[in-house]
Amino acid sequence: MLLFVCLFALLISSSSHAADFCVAKLKGAGNPAGYACRMPSKVTVDDFVFTGLGVAGNTTNIISAAVTPAFVQQFPGVNGLGLSMARLDLAPAGVIPMHTHPGASEVLFVSFSDPDPGLQITDFAFFANNLSSELLEKSTFLDDAQVKKLKKVLGGTG
Ligand SMILES: *[C@@H]1O[C@H](CO)[C@@H](O)[C@H](O)[C@H]1NC(C)=O
Ligand SMILES: *[C@@H]1O[C@H](CO)[C@@H](O)[C@H](O)[C@H]1NC(C)=O
Repeated sequence: MLLFVCLFALLISSSSHAADFCVAKLKGAGNPAGYACRMPSKVTVDDFVFTGLGVAGNTTNIISAAVTPAFVQQFPGVNGLGLSMARLDLAPAGVIPMHTHPGASEVLFVSFSDPDPGLQITDFAFFANNLSSELLEKSTFLDDAQVKKLKKVLGGTG
């Protein structure tokens, strides 16, 4: 009987250890698998709620764009789940600088405000064109050799 109780206690105990959450303890160092788990007594409901994706980012900046991350640092409840999210706001003529995410692959869901949004690849607009090199140098901050090289690669002249 005693053995049964102990086994039962062990089962209860091991199932309670099979936690289905591991809220990040952000003060420690992270590793590719995430952060250490915060003690359950230190976890609050706010760790599982992130409202930032419903709020437009401020696009008044040099790139006319705003990224609102819901990464583990902002949303500690995603720790160990193998996913995170981000909201992207792009104002007219907004751009996202070339970047990488060294820790993840990314799937981008994009919706448009028009059934025919068009597509203009800025590199082609600039360099597969006959705009004067001087104008392009001023507007892109590239030097003459770089502009001429891009024009040659993409078929522009001037
Ligand atoms: C957006 O950012 C700009 C530039 O930093 C700032 O001047 C402006 O107050 C911000 N707008 C809001 C609504 O926070
Ligand atoms: C650039 O000029 C060439 C002739 O020099 C012309 O054939 C070509 O259509 C022009 N390209 C554009 C994008 O205007």
